[in-house]
Amino acid sequence: MSFSIDRYKEESRRLDTSGVAWDDIQKYPLSKGDLFCLHYMMDIENHTSLYLSHLLVTRACMNPILTAFLSCWVYEELWHGENLGKFLKCYGVEFDTDERVAQIRAGLGFQNTMSIFTTMVGSWLLEDFAAIYLSVGAINELSTTTGYAALARKCHHPVLEDLLGRIQKDERRHFAFYYNSAKQWLDGNRRAQKLDRFILDKTWVVVGKGVKNQEEVDALGLYLFDDAPGAEALQGIDEKIGRLPGLEGIRLMTKALDEARANAAKVPGWGYRLIEQEAWAVGAKKLPAGALFGHHVEVESSDEVGVAG
Ligand SMILES: [Fe+2]
Ligand SMILES: [Fe+2]
Repeated sequence: MSFSIDRYKEESRRLDTSGVAWDDIQKYPLSKGDLFCLHYMMDIENHTSLYLSHLLVTRACMNPILTAFLSCWVYEELWHGENLGKFLKCYGVEFDTDERVAQIRAGLGFQNTMSIFTTMVGSWLLEDFAAIYLSVGAINELSTTTGYAALARKCHHPVLEDLLGRIQKDERRHFAFYYNSAKQWLDGNRRAQKLDRFILDKTWVVVGKGVKNQEEVDALGLYLFDDAPGAEALQGIDEKIGRLPGLEGIRLMTKALDEARANAAKVPGWGYRLIEQEAWAVGAKKLPAGALFGHHVEVESSDEVGVAG
């Protein structure tokens, strides 16, 4: 897997949606779980430009190759969010994108500012900060594309499968950049390897955590990956990341799934109650009873149930 920044700059463009059968979207039903994932994914894609504000203050961004990549990357991510939103609207979910984005940002609060500050300070104190940032980028892009693949596998919706396939092509390119760059930084650099391993083990969180709460993160993880092909896909991510120098045998995604399962074992309906009760799904197409999940979902009293986003 190679990556050329010059080629990427030349070829980067907004997602090509020519030929996507937008008019056919309503012909195929989606489960509430599919809709929950789409909402989550759209929100996180739309959050990328704010995530960028955390990166641009770091020492890593003194590197012009990195800033060239980020300039193209953030534009591509914008169009992932835009097109997931368009898909949802075509399906019949009514919302105002700007309002939705503003609402999510308003909920970030002081913690977001503190996070920017600590990332900035940390990056200037730690010479090998770039190793952490690049490794996290690789994990996030690989888990994102794996999430899209899992949703495409589950949704049985040809138009969504088509759209997600197109987005995945971008995500795989993003992954290739981060992975190759992380490898270069870590190769032969024992100090960077130790730091990277330590920080990932102690602080890494699943894509979207922070914007979404733990139960929302777990809901997505359980819906997409709590079956044999899903668990195998997560194992594949850990194995791939474990091939970076110093990260042999690291467990990130498989650990996150274990934790989601443990949370679900403690609280009846954990995760699935959010999917079942999600406000956005109410106005969407009604599916036949029992078509949503393959198992019974227990929902506790409604005032204890959070709503995604
Ligand atoms: Fe994306
Ligand atoms: Fe991406």
